[in-house]
Order: sequence, then C-alpha cells, then structure tokens
Amino acid sequence: MTTHWAKKTAIVTGAASGIGAATAKLLARQGMNVVLADIQAQPLAQCLQQCLDEGLSVDACLTDVSDADSVKALADFSENRFGDIHLSFNNAGVAMHGVPMEKMDLKDWQWVIDVNIKSVVHAIAHILPRLRQHGEVAHFINTASIGGLQVNPNWLTGAYSMTKYAVVAMSEGLRNELTDTPVNVSVLCPGAVASDFGSASSRPSRLGGPTQRPEQVFLAQALSTAGVTPDYVAQRIWAALQNDEFFIFTDSAMQSVIEQRHQQILQGLARADAFQVQT
Ligand SMILES: NC(=O)c1ccc[n+]([C@@H]2O[C@H](COP(=O)([O-])OP(=O)(O)OC[C@H]3O[C@@H](n4cnc5c(N)ncnc54)[C@H](O)[C@@H]3O)[C@@H](O)[C@H]2O)c1
Repeated sequence: MTTHWAKKTAIVTGAASGIGAATAKLLARQGMNVVLADIQAQPLAQCLQQCLDEGLSVDACLTDVSDADSVKALADFSENRFGDIHLSFNNAGVAMHGVPMEKMDLKDWQWVIDVNIKSVVHAIAHILPRLRQHGEVAHFINTASIGGLQVNPNWLTGAYSMTKYAVVAMSEGLRNELTDTPVNVSVLCPGAVASDFGSASSRPSRLGGPTQRPEQVFLAQALSTAGVTPDYVAQRIWAALQNDEFFIFTDSAMQSVIEQRHQQILQGLARADAFQVQT
C-alpha cells in the first residue's frame, strides 16, 4: 500500500452496508484504523464484528449524518479512539427513485435532503477542520452518484439527482478552496451498484419509519442484477486514492446522456450569444 495511509485513521459513513461496508473493510485491510459509522445499529454491529474477526483495527460509532451534533460526536469519538483523522469518506445516502416529484411526500423530501446533502455539510463543519489541523496529507471523499451529473430519463430521479448535484457542487467548491492545502478532495459518482440501496430500512421514525414501496423493491431488484459489486467500487476508490482522482466513476454507461445534457447547455449558451448580437 501507499505508505502514507498506513496506521492513519479513516471515518466511513454508511459503513453498515454496501459501498461503505466494502470500503471500510478494504481501508482497514490496507492497514488503516477505521471508524465505521451508520444509523442502523444491528447491521453496524455485524459489520464491526466481521472486521474484528479478521483482526482489523476498527471501531464503530452509531451516527445519524443528518444530525450535526451526531457528526461532531463521530469526529470526537474517532479522534479520541485513534488520534488524528486523515480520511473522511462521507458516503451515507438514501435512494429516492421512481416517484414523480409532484407526488412526493414532504417528509421524503426532508429525508433525502437531510441525509444526502446535509451529511456533507456536517462533515465539512465537523470533520474537515480535523483533517486540516494536523497539516499532513489527508483526503475528503464525498459520495455523489452518476445521478449528480444528469437526471436519468427512465428512472424518475429528479429529487435524488437534486441532492447529488449538490454533493458534486460542494465537492468542486472544496477542491477549489483547498487547492493550496494538503487535503485532497474527491467525489465518487457510482453508476448502478448491487447493494441494499433500494430499501428504505434506514428511514427514521420521525419521518415515517422504514417503508417498502413498489418502486423501492423495483430499484433493489434492478440494482441486484445490473450493478457492480460494492467490493468492486471499494477497489475503484482505492485505485483513485493512489492517483488522486477528483471524479471517481465506476462505469461510463450514462456517458451519452451526460453528453446530451452538455450539448443542451452549449446550445443554450450559443443562443445567448446570438441573442446579444441581435440586440
Ligand atoms: N447503489 C447504487 O446503485 C448507488 C449508485 C450511485 C450512488 N450511490 C450512493 O452510494 C452511497 C452508498 O449507498 P449504497 O449503495 O452502499 O447503499 P446501502 O443502502 O447499501 O448503504 C447505505 C448506508 O447508509 C446508511 N444510512 C442511511 N441514512 C443514514 C443516516 N442518516 N446516518 C448514517 N447512516 C445512514 C444506511 O443505514 C446504510 O447502511 C449513497 O450515498 C448512495 O446515494 C449508490
């Protein structure tokens, strides 16, 4: 492994399942101390036990990334447990696919915004300063989605993509703001990944609790057949970390849709120029 990560400490949110669990295990197998953070206590405890059974240097912290105080407590816990923090993988997120936006319950808007956007805001407020304070090389990785660069024309992803566009924008802003610091920034934009992502098992009771709607079942089934494995994504992240990639993609399946979107933007800009010439 690249020596500067050995014995360093990573925080991974959404670590009880899918991409987070696979990446937390990979980082720990590479010799890092890893704090596993998730809102779901039982799967988190299971993941922790699996890591401990392997002899990995890990601990777990029950965390709600939509709550600023909880993220601060996670940062405190991590520093107290393992010392300086060098890597923050801000990965916890929830799906909101298959529902037209005008039919969405306001509680679902709140849920997807609170988890997918505010999680990164809270990590910027409470974890990023700890990555900066020791002055050594560190990495701040946000999980967006390929849905952070286009709105899938077939999957009704307007609300989900809105949150992931925000994650991409925050990541681009941070990359600019941290250029002259030892803190590198990346944004993970996975395509389909076979995980537990379709289920809404983490929806908190204050927002209606876990649900099992038909569109969630459909998404879960589609991802289980079409998606790459979380382990594949973890390997992809590890390779990208060595190369200091900013955009981390897992496949190029949506390339033509992204190109079409960019074409539309370029055409709109050209029309603006043409309009100015006429006036
Ligand atoms: N699976 C995909 O196809 C896919 C594609 C693109 C992007 N993503 C993104 O990847 C990330 C990980 O998703 P995954 O596929 O591993 O899904 P997953 O459902 O398997 O894992 C997500 C984890 O986040 C946790 N979580 C949810 N709300 C939380 C909260 N408030 N606080 C702390 N933890 C919370 C869940 O308990 C779960 O363990 C998400 O940000 C998701 O948007 C996934």
